[in-house]
Amino acid sequence: MAQKVNIEELLKSMTLKEKIGQLTQLAPFFFKDSAKGIVTGPMEALGIKDSDIWNAGSVLGTAGAEETIEIQKLYLERNEKKIPLMFMADIIHGYRTIFPIPLALGCTWDENLVEKVARVSAIEASAGGVHVTFSPMVDLVRDPRWGRVMESTGEDPYLNSVMARAFVRGYQGGDISKEGNIASCVKHFAAYGAVEGGREYNTVDVSERMLREFYLPSYKAAIDEGCKMVMTSFNIVNSIPSSGNKWLLRGILRGEWGFDGVTISDWGAIKELIPHGVAEDEKEAARKAIQAGVDIDMMSGCYAKHLEELVEEGQVDIKLIDEAVYRVLKLKEELGLFENPFKGVDKEKEKRVVLCEEHRRIAREVAAASIVLLKNENVLPFNKDIKKLAIIGPYADEHAILGPWSWQGRWEETVSLKEGIINKIGESKVLVEKGCETEGESDAQYKESLKKALKAASEADAVILALGEHYDMSGEARSRAFITLPGRQEDLAREIIKLRKPTVVILFNGRPLEIRELYKIAPAVLEAWFPGTEGGNAIADILFADKIPSAKLTMSFPYTVGQIPVYYNHFNTGRPKPSEDSTERFCSHYVDIPNAPLLPFGFGLSYTQYEYSKIELDKNILHGNDSIKATVKIKNVGKYPGDEIVQLYIRDLTASVVRPVKELKGFKKIHLEVGEEKEAVFEITEDMLRFYNENMEYISEKGKFLLMIGPNSRDLQTVEFEYR
Ligand code: BGC
Repeated sequence: MAQKVNIEELLKSMTLKEKIGQLTQLAPFFFKDSAKGIVTGPMEALGIKDSDIWNAGSVLGTAGAEETIEIQKLYLERNEKKIPLMFMADIIHGYRTIFPIPLALGCTWDENLVEKVARVSAIEASAGGVHVTFSPMVDLVRDPRWGRVMESTGEDPYLNSVMARAFVRGYQGGDISKEGNIASCVKHFAAYGAVEGGREYNTVDVSERMLREFYLPSYKAAIDEGCKMVMTSFNIVNSIPSSGNKWLLRGILRGEWGFDGVTISDWGAIKELIPHGVAEDEKEAARKAIQAGVDIDMMSGCYAKHLEELVEEGQVDIKLIDEAVYRVLKLKEELGLFENPFKGVDKEKEKRVVLCEEHRRIAREVAAASIVLLKNENVLPFNKDIKKLAIIGPYADEHAILGPWSWQGRWEETVSLKEGIINKIGESKVLVEKGCETEGESDAQYKESLKKALKAASEADAVILALGEHYDMSGEARSRAFITLPGRQEDLAREIIKLRKPTVVILFNGRPLEIRELYKIAPAVLEAWFPGTEGGNAIADILFADKIPSAKLTMSFPYTVGQIPVYYNHFNTGRPKPSEDSTERFCSHYVDIPNAPLLPFGFGLSYTQYEYSKIELDKNILHGNDSIKATVKIKNVGKYPGDEIVQLYIRDLTASVVRPVKELKGFKKIHLEVGEEKEAVFEITEDMLRFYNENMEYISEKGKFLLMIGPNSRDLQTVEFEYR
């Protein structure tokens, strides 16, 4: 076992080459191949030498006790100073027990559940040797064409911030030196979610005001919660790529926010300063990145190849290197790696904790809490006494329902929809037909499948249409221009719905889809997202009312793609549309579609119904440090117990700069038994009214405000109050 170290002394003893090594992150195969004396293509392509490998400070994208122990051992045998390697990986929504995708996690509106997800992820991942996870991804998203919306918790800065904090708490557990806790790396700093046209890696152009008001708060929230690392984004911010953006990294992140943890580039992003057109070559890219404040170079090789000469030529101040290396070593120390480079990683423990019963139970609970009921005309819940239930569609018995970034998850360990339903009502009652594929199918094949599907549906008392995007249609580099259901799924649905059986459409997807027509004709629609390992069981829990739907959307479902970006916290414009059915010509509208999305932010139904009382304010004038109490009573007037997510929005009616028509400022998830009534009490304080004024000062202004409370961002009660 290595000894406790004095980092300052260690740093002083290191050669420049060793220091630069700490700022270099490589993929695992470099170590294994180099130990065997193999020089691989990627090594050559990056220009990485043997000595670089055995000085590299961290590895990415590997896990598993056996593998990480092997690499750490190989490394420590060869690294002169015996500085342990740090293992980083994308543990985004679970390690081996896979939870719903983050967009679905957002829909739980439940920070405790999200914290639990991160906790379980950390316990499993750390047993597999992971020290740092590249999560949470907190990019605010408004464009469902972008494949990575599945990684975010949605379109709202407040909700995203609450969730960002929950993730960090869960991973880090308050103390990363403890076994079972891992460090969290928030990403992608900044505004990656604003790529133009939703096209991956595209240009981002947001004003500083937009950046500060909408995009930055969630990263800041993660940092305020103690998040140890920040990853830069691929995009430009104010025309400078994030990985070379001093204003962003040294100005805002370190200067304004006081972040003293480690920064890391995204994969190869330092080298991408060249195609972006702000660096002539790799050397200039390395210089710009280190000067801008990027500590670790993930997989571009620019630091390993050029930092040494840049320092020797006096182009880069050694102080910058020392500071960055110090931060990396400090993180290793905080993780307890100097004392034990194998901290937490344990083959036996790994076997015990990974995918254990308890973790599966939590995955099932979380998945049920993330499934959003979008429509229900007396179809759901199903009765367990049902005689025949037909499950039709490409997702009827599909195990690939883990979603992107579930590389440690396994399809064969995943409960499909069919399996979940059989677990609930037995095999004899279930008919299964695929009906069609999500892609690549001939007319003849489709005709044949449709015939079988129609037969099964006609024999059944109720039908489930299990539809969705192919699992590889969302995630990184998976932008889509048409966000409809691929293949002939809508045709299939139309044919089946014509049979007029009680039919529910269940959607498996990584983004809000364009489902306008289907939504009109389907008697019931359930949004299951990619629900993870226990997906099938969780959906069955919902279908048969062992769990009551409570989730609500955190990203608007557009009416059509032509409306994008469509989000609830927009501005009013100078010519707002008077109402959705207005025929006013010269107002801000489309001649062919409504302004409103098909399904708004915050929307989701349940099997039970809730009645909201009138909002009561204890006073309607807010002074200085005082607060207003807004109370609304919510009563469960339906037939099932349930959890209602009560939402609070505020609008600044007149200000020195334009303000959104509403902004989420609070929410409460309230459990109500049948017939039960509870109060939701919100405290309105001055800080909720703040925004960036003309001079970019974060202030509040006196005046009139609207306070809105309701079950979603559309159906709200409104009262006025004044801030004096
Ligand atoms: C992604 C990051 C990820 C990294 C490491 C990049 O391509 O943008 O989100 O953390 O790869 O796997």
